[in-house]
Amino acid sequence: MLKRFTVSMEDSLLTDFDDFIQERHYQNRSEALRDLIRNKIIEKEWQADKDVMGVISLVYDHHHPKLQEKVTELQHDFHHQIVSTTHVHMDHNNCLEVIIVRGKAHQVQGLADNLRALRGVRSSSLSMGSTGENLH
Ligand code: NI
Repeated sequence: MLKRFTVSMEDSLLTDFDDFIQERHYQNRSEALRDLIRNKIIEKEWQADKDVMGVISLVYDHHHPKLQEKVTELQHDFHHQIVSTTHVHMDHNNCLEVIIVRGKAHQVQGLADNLRALRGVRSSSLSMGSTGENLH
């Protein structure tokens, strides 16, 4: 059930907020505010090493010596944290791997850091999610 409350803020901050809402195509201020608050709660869960969910994405050159092997090996080391992995052959050289993870925040962060540190990984990102306890 949605509850209403009143928010007061300075003119200039509200103008910035409305610009932000337009840029991100939110339907209204309430929706934008809910999303910002959810993101802050997720951040807090990660900082407090709670049970979290997330998505790691990696782009790497599969010709790089042993890299494919190392990416697979690491995922086996963290198999309790991995929900699923999707591999996409982007072009002749590059692979995109998307890994859905869950577990204690520090474990998930550890896997992401280890993957990022492999030589030959061109880009990597971790998007933080939540198991959802506080979000509904
Ligand atoms: Ni591939």
